[in-house]
Amino acid sequence: MTTGPAPAAVGVIGGGRMGAGIAQVFATLGSRVHLVERDPDVAAAARQRVADGLTKSAGRGTLNSHPEEVLGRLTAVSDAGALPSDVDLVVEAIPERADLKIAVLTEAEKTVSASTVLATNTSSLSISELGSALKRPERFLGMHFFNPVPASQLVEVIKTSETANAVTHRVRGWVRALGKSDIVVRDSPGFATSRLGVLLGLEAIRMLEDGVADADAIDNAMELGYRHPMGPLRSTDLVGLDVRLAIAEHLHTTLGERFAPPRLLRDKVARGELGRKTGRGFHDWS
Ligand SMILES: NC(=O)c1ccc[n+]([C@@H]2O[C@H](COP(=O)([O-])OP(=O)(O)OC[C@H]3O[C@@H](n4cnc5c(N)ncnc54)[C@H](O)[C@@H]3O)[C@@H](O)[C@H]2O)c1
Repeated sequence: MTTGPAPAAVGVIGGGRMGAGIAQVFATLGSRVHLVERDPDVAAAARQRVADGLTKSAGRGTLNSHPEEVLGRLTAVSDAGALPSDVDLVVEAIPERADLKIAVLTEAEKTVSASTVLATNTSSLSISELGSALKRPERFLGMHFFNPVPASQLVEVIKTSETANAVTHRVRGWVRALGKSDIVVRDSPGFATSRLGVLLGLEAIRMLEDGVADADAIDNAMELGYRHPMGPLRSTDLVGLDVRLAIAEHLHTTLGERFAPPRLLRDKVARGELGRKTGRGFHDWS
């Protein structure tokens, strides 16, 4: 698998945390990026976040062009129907709700050309279900980016039984062009990353409940013993306990008992101990 050419033009739907990051990496690569964001204040904030990210990269010496030049390739529009037809790729990154995602993806499909690839950045929804609403599901797949997008190494490429091989191939080339690595995964609950990451996190919480060791010791077991960059409890704190609980509930329903959320996780979420964002989770972040 070799690096592909940069897509000339990309649409990114949703200007939140992930959408701004995805817009930044494609604009840096040289693509014209059309960012679809409904809320004008969020669109302005996304532009600022991209500008800040580019300034940081320039400061580190990892940006080959001037930040202003990269930013010049980014334009904002307020709805998917305003995307130009000649975009090579559209990546949807709006909130994690199937009905909302289907609405913007079907709207985008009406606007773009027949050869445009459509992708979703969902972290847990069924790609096949989202694709079934499209007229041409063979050009649709999952492109699961990680947070923060500019610094992360992986994009999980999730294909359905309908996704055309040529589409998967093009997308993998674009991921390589971004300087990232891809893994190709068949559409299934939790894909590869959430399924493994959540299972380890849930077992670590059960160990805490059982009094096997304290949170630092459990994290050190994996950080020092197995060279994980971050232990499973610290990682749950960073993702957010509420987010992890929602994914665990989904995987419990689809994959069975081994994903049953532990009592301690539910209790902490009910108390508002959601991890780093609230100052306390399994560790103290205040
Ligand atoms: N945050 C993460 O760590 C992470 C990691 C991987 C994948 N994801 C997935 O990425 C997606 C986005 O997550 P996020 O954290 O960036 O969310 P976010 O809430 O930060 O951003 C979503 C944005 O979409 C905008 N939006 C909503 N409806 C819209 C519409 N119809 N048209 C245009 N814009 C619209 C909102 O105004 C908001 O700015 C979700 O599916 C999430 O599961 C998130």
